[in-house]
Amino acid sequence: MPKEVAVVTGANKGIGLAIVRALCKDFDGDVYLTARDVGRGQQAVQDLEKENLHPKFHQLDITSKESIGKLKDFLEKNFGGLDVLVNNAAIAYKVNSTAPFTEQAEVTVACNFFGTLDVCDALFPVLRPHSRVVNVASRRGTITLGKMGKELVSKFRSSTLIRSELIALMNQFVRDVKAGNHEAEGWLTRAYGTSKLGVIALTAVQARTMAGDSREDILINSCCPGLVATDMNPKGTKTPDQGAETPVHLALLPVNAGKPQGEFLGEKKVIPWLIDGAGMNYNTYE
Ligand SMILES: NC(=O)c1ccc[n+]([C@@H]2O[C@H](COP(=O)([O-])OP(=O)(O)OC[C@H]3O[C@@H](n4cnc5c(N)ncnc54)[C@H](OP(=O)(O)O)[C@@H]3O)[C@@H](O)[C@H]2O)c1
Repeated sequence: MPKEVAVVTGANKGIGLAIVRALCKDFDGDVYLTARDVGRGQQAVQDLEKENLHPKFHQLDITSKESIGKLKDFLEKNFGGLDVLVNNAAIAYKVNSTAPFTEQAEVTVACNFFGTLDVCDALFPVLRPHSRVVNVASRRGTITLGKMGKELVSKFRSSTLIRSELIALMNQFVRDVKAGNHEAEGWLTRAYGTSKLGVIALTAVQARTMAGDSREDILINSCCPGLVATDMNPKGTKTPDQGAETPVHLALLPVNAGKPQGEFLGEKKVIPWLIDGAGMNYNTYE
């Protein structure tokens, strides 16, 4: 049996670092802490070493196809595949950011949605049977969805949405923002929430696609870690280790668990949001 391997993106701090910490304790294989900045990533590995944990390091910038390709080659060469992928890396402009919303929309969607998509596109082909994929999203995604125009809501919530349609929607958001008509078109002035809605919808699309795959028992889910005190959210009330609980639960779902599949979870529970789910739960923080 080849050695199992887990990869966590954006893991030099915050929830990603806490996910690596938990996987080092409970995952039976090598755990790769990845970071876009080599110095910050290696420092984080050294910090975990002081806790007597032994993650490995690999550079990964999810907005660089070259960087993603290097990680894929490395995994294939050294492990022959991948068993756990936690897409945790993301950015959020501060609420008081003075950056134009056109920039916020483009940059946030490029990193959080398209970066995550590119990582998945590169690494899904090397996933082994029984792999687990966790896309760390946010309830901000469903909150944003709940306030969007009806037509957009039904497109995002459609259980027959396909990849090309979702990509077109995310591009349309950025285009409408640039054209200055995004609110008239039913979008919110929310770059982060829209990008995370994209990740939640992508997860459902990916799980439906995986249903036709010959590799057995690959589970793909998204989740909200809760309000976690990190650089992204200094007002969060959970510790990063608490925020890691739901992502790690999904990363370590037992062999042949069967479900959840393609779902969005918070506090380890499925949050229904698709059109044919048991009604929509906006799950607002407010
Ligand atoms: N904190 C919360 O309350 C909360 C709530 C809901 C969802 N989330 C989600 O939880 C995840 C972790 O958030 P966090 O609170 O831990 O945020 P954080 O402390 O800001 O950490 C974000 C991590 O992502 C990395 N990153 C950003 N862009 C990247 C890129 N292009 N390539 C690779 N890594 C990149 C950052 O690296 P650098 O250090 O190099 O910037 C950092 O390691 C995110 O997906 C976030 O949206 C957080």
